[in-house]
Amino acid sequence: MLINQQVFRTIWPTEVIGSAVNSIAIIDQTKLPHVFEIVQIENLAQMVHAIKTMQVRGAPLIGAAAAYGIALAMQQEASDAHLQAAAAQLIQSRPTAVNLAWSVRRMVACLQGMPIEARNSGAWQEAANIAEEDVAQNQAIGQHGLSLIKNLYQNKTLNILTHCNAGWLATVDFGTALAPIYAANDAGLNVHVWVSETRPRNQGAALTAWELAQHGVKHTVITDNAGGHLMQQGLVDMVIVGADRVTSTGDVCNKIGTYLKALAAFDNNIPFYAAVPTPTIDWQISHYQAIEIEERHGDEVAYLQGLAADGSVQNVRVIPNESKTANPAFDVTPARLVTGIITEKGVFAPNVLKNCK
Ligand code: MRU
Repeated sequence: MLINQQVFRTIWPTEVIGSAVNSIAIIDQTKLPHVFEIVQIENLAQMVHAIKTMQVRGAPLIGAAAAYGIALAMQQEASDAHLQAAAAQLIQSRPTAVNLAWSVRRMVACLQGMPIEARNSGAWQEAANIAEEDVAQNQAIGQHGLSLIKNLYQNKTLNILTHCNAGWLATVDFGTALAPIYAANDAGLNVHVWVSETRPRNQGAALTAWELAQHGVKHTVITDNAGGHLMQQGLVDMVIVGADRVTSTGDVCNKIGTYLKALAAFDNNIPFYAAVPTPTIDWQISHYQAIEIEERHGDEVAYLQGLAADGSVQNVRVIPNESKTANPAFDVTPARLVTGIITEKGVFAPNVLKNCK
């Protein structure tokens, strides 16, 4: 994707100058949209920290980050014990997005059968494979989603509502929910995106709005509570969101607040799609209550981050000192509210999702 006309991915290996050691470069997403900063990750502990603190975030990207985390761990020490310990640390770093556990298990399965001396280079290669596959999958999602958009298009502005950030920042490149929107925009279709802010971390307001602006896609940021009203007014033609985990029966676990958007879309007869690469589908789980929902720190609810008049980025408290907080980070939209799942293999109704296995 383009940032100030320069091509970027969200994660890439770099060599540390003057040594044979590889490191990983990431875009620090906690600083966006106000500061664009690239951070070097040099070891497993730093990668676990980057995932936990959401310097990298979004299901496909944390899958790729975890794979590179294993490669960094193998660079430090390629023993079986270290491989297992690294895998365990990474898997517990964020529990809900299934891509993370999926990619760690794939790395372990690939490396376990290798001689110790081959594991360092083998790990870098497999992590690169995971990253490249993500790019290709998201590009294909963009094309399948573009067909859906074309079907709805009537030569006037098509309004698409999205929640959280499922753009290229949440993946290695292209994005999931935003991939069809970029494809439509680039094909000359007149699309406009309603971006719901996504409290408490504001991934919509901070990240989705930023990347749409970088790409020149028309968009408007709305409060999380405005979506239902806009749907009633006839101002939303379709909803596309990403997902952190989809059950084998098509229930969609995504950022908190997605369920409310789906309910409103259903009530207003508006198509509701989730765009996911197949590693986001958890074939082991058929009922959404089996999904662990990450509970994050209450300070994310108590404080807002923003740009102060003096140009500094500041946190301000928005609740009374005495008040308690609760911060479930994800919710589940039942399959009955989902029109279709857009994957790299095509678009599937939830009840036939198994056809894309
Ligand atoms: O907590 P986050 O920011 O990692 O949550 C991200 C989301 O919920 C995304 O919508 C989801 O991962 C899909 S990303 C392509």
